[in-house]
Amino acid sequence: MIEFQDVTLSFGEKPVLRGLCFRVRFHEKVAVLGGSGEGKTTVLKLILGLLRPDGGRILVDGQDITVMSESRLREVRMKFSIVFQEGALFDSMSVRENVAFCLREYTRLSDEEIEERVRGLLRRMGIEEAIDLMPDELSGGMQRRVAIARSLAACEPRMMLYDEPTTGLDPLTADNICSLINELSEGEPPERKGLIIVTHKVTDAAKVAERFMYLKDGKIAFDGDITGLMRTEDPELRRFIAELLPHRPVSAGGEDER
Ligand SMILES: Nc1ncnc2c1ncn2[C@@H]1O[C@H](COP(=O)(O)OP(=O)(O)OP(=O)(O)O)[C@@H](O)[C@H]1O
Ligand SMILES: [Mg+2]
Repeated sequence: MIEFQDVTLSFGEKPVLRGLCFRVRFHEKVAVLGGSGEGKTTVLKLILGLLRPDGGRILVDGQDITVMSESRLREVRMKFSIVFQEGALFDSMSVRENVAFCLREYTRLSDEEIEERVRGLLRRMGIEEAIDLMPDELSGGMQRRVAIARSLAACEPRMMLYDEPTTGLDPLTADNICSLINELSEGEPPERKGLIIVTHKVTDAAKVAERFMYLKDGKIAFDGDITGLMRTEDPELRRFIAELLPHRPVSAGGEDER
């Protein structure tokens, strides 16, 4: 379980999170929606202890990570697999080296074992043939797949974290990535590996998530399932999720929404 208790964070004078509260269990499939700059990436960084909040507590498995030492945080990070925004591959390394990076860094596997594991992951992502290519030789969709393979390489995570995994991709490639995301989180709770996807692409969020949180002004302005999301009366949230709604949005009371 991940628990944010009244978390506040400012960058300089600028408040980003203003008393953020939520609980997410490891097997849940959650989308964090919100406009640009609302703090979505910041939330993922806080979960991993890459940032510390100014106030409040963040519990992972019941332990407060805001006061943890770096060495204990490393153990917490092993529970998660993260695919950063834009894939963020190492440009000067081949696909093989990108995926192998954490295995070399954090494990004592032999070269043969690493090669086998890297190939296995790339095969699972459907891009084994790209193993010797450099990142700039790959399409955007392939780069995301490599990034997912790399995030899975070092550990068997309890939960997957994705930061805008489909942004900037054509609709078909984005759809393939969504299928992949669903495959990695298949099965039934509580055994399955859950996910948190941070995105402003609501149609992609709807393909992979069962719970939706809308981040607005540093707080959760909505938290619910797809039915609740589509019935929201919040005019701004309705505009945000317009792609999901029927063309002429009508509120629950039957009045025109404008
Ligand atoms: N290291 C930092 N130093 C200063 N300001 C930062 C830093 N990281 C984030 N911010 C600011 O905090 C706010 C939230 O940033 P964040 O990256 O979490 O937004 P986001 O919701 O992920 O946006 P996007 O949809 O554009 O990725 C932004 O206004 C950003 O400028
Ligand atoms: Mg972001």
